Formats: sequence, structure tokens, C-alpha cells
Amino acid sequence: MSLIGRSLVTLKNWSQKEVQELFFLSSTFKNNSHSHISSPPGKVVALAFFEPSTRTKLSFQMALGRLGLMSSDLGTLSDSSMVKGESFSETLKTIEAMEPDLMVLRTNSSQGEIDIINQYSRPVISAGCGPLGHPTQALADAFTIRESYNLQNFKILFVGDINHSRVVRSNINLLSLFPNVEFGFCGPKEFLPPSDQFPHSKNFSHLEEALSWADICMGLRVQLERHASASFSPEDYKKNYRLTADKLNKHFKKEGLILHPGPHIPEVDFDPQIFNDPRCVVRKQVTNGVFVRMSIMASFLGLVKR
Ligand code: CP
Repeated sequence: MSLIGRSLVTLKNWSQKEVQELFFLSSTFKNNSHSHISSPPGKVVALAFFEPSTRTKLSFQMALGRLGLMSSDLGTLSDSSMVKGESFSETLKTIEAMEPDLMVLRTNSSQGEIDIINQYSRPVISAGCGPLGHPTQALADAFTIRESYNLQNFKILFVGDINHSRVVRSNINLLSLFPNVEFGFCGPKEFLPPSDQFPHSKNFSHLEEALSWADICMGLRVQLERHASASFSPEDYKKNYRLTADKLNKHFKKEGLILHPGPHIPEVDFDPQIFNDPRCVVRKQVTNGVFVRMSIMASFLGLVKR
């Protein structure tokens, strides 16, 4: 089995064995060993982020630096010729014509954009495509969970804006590869998926009940920029669904894990006091994101010595 030349737009076509292989390599990087990596000169990775990003973009750049690879960064959407009217399709064809060894792409994707990405003929990694998926974030999350759980036999609860979350979709695709993982969703009715959309899942309207059910709790940002209507009330949301240290201490198990993919909004979704809770692994998710992205790019570019 080889990951050389692969793309990563969705995790739907991945096997448990391939994920474990990536995590083994991520652990090796985390233990500060680079002896099994060779970076031939001249490999270039193009970065095209058409939506803002802090942790994903920087962690790809840090991963590239640690692998000794070069990057070419298109900058933000407003730095590209798309502001002059060039289409998304033409932009990708232009990048393709420069023959980067890999492209890392973030977009606000509609299905039309996904179809265009699928026509791009060179290796591409999604760094978050609209509400459709964020596979490298899910890999960083699962790698972080793996440091405490065996990636089996646990219940994971997502709290917040499930319907707009690309992170949830990719987490479900990924964690469904592992045995006895159950999914719970908690939030206002309009944020929850239909109860039959995901197998082995449960919807909760009360946060206290949901927290008592879960082994792992992942907070999510309310994605106001993706809400079509103004019906959302931040005050109601904050009262009922904001994760606070008090709610977690009262209702969540002592040996549980608390995650958030970021960015988090302290006033709405995630009380910053939670960062002091020993169950909180949010900073570890960020740290691990670099090692996981190193292992993805090293594997795809064939830098791993056998
Ligand atoms: N988790 C995540 O995608 O964060 P950024 O938008 O900061 O990259």
C-alpha cells in the first residue's frame, strides 16, 4: 500500500490501515525523528487559501518548513486575480499549469467548486472546503484522541452548529472506520442533522444530558457567516449550549476529553476557562496538526524512506 501521489479531498475512500500508517508517521515526527525522511530539492507545494485561516495555513507552512520543502503562497483571495474577475476554474487551471508537486486548497466551496476541484489533475489536499469537509483537521483531532483512547469504544459529542460544520463531516467519515464509535449531536433544533442522517448517532436538545452521555466532547463555532437567516439568537444559544467550566464539571466524566477545532468564540461557544481543565486537549490538537500535516505531505510526496 502506498500513499504516494494521493490526493485528500475527502476521507470517505480511506481505510483504517492507511490512517494508522499516517498516525504512525505522525508519532515519529512528534518524537522528533526525521531520520527516515529525505526531501529531494525542488519539491514545491502551492498554498491557495480563498478563505481566512490561522491554524490550518500556518500549520501547513510549519510542516513544510520542518520537512525542508518549499512553498508558493497565492495569498488571500484579494491577492489573486479572482478579484479582477478570473474564475475559480481558471485559477486552478493556472496553478495546475505551473505543475506544483502538491496543492493545499481552502475554499468556500459550493458543489460546483467541488466538481472543479475533482477535475484538477495533480495531487491536492483540502484545507477545508466550505461546509463539505476538513479532512486534515479530522486527522489532527483523531490523532489527538488516539493519545488518550484506543480509537475504539467511545462516544463523541459535537456541540453547536453541526449542520454547517465541515469538521463534523470529516470526523464522522474518519471515526466511522474504527469499531464501536458512537456520535452525539447537541444544539438548537435548526443546527442538528436529521436523526437518520448518520448511523450510530443520537440528537440531544439538552446539553446536560448530552454531556453525561459522552466520553469525548467537541465544541464547535457557530458559523454566523454561513447562516442564511437572522433567526439565530446568540443570547439563547449562550444560555443553553455554550460550553462552560461549570457545566463540564457538573455533567462531564472525569476521564473525558474536551476538544474544539477552532476558531472558538469565547462569548458564544467556548468559555476560555476550559483551557485550564486537564481534560482539555485543544492546544494539543493545534500542536498535533503540524505533525499530522507533515506525515500527509511526506507520504503523498514519497519522502518516506522504506
Ligand atoms: N480549524 C481551522 O480550520 O481553523 P482555521 O480556520 O484557523 O484554519
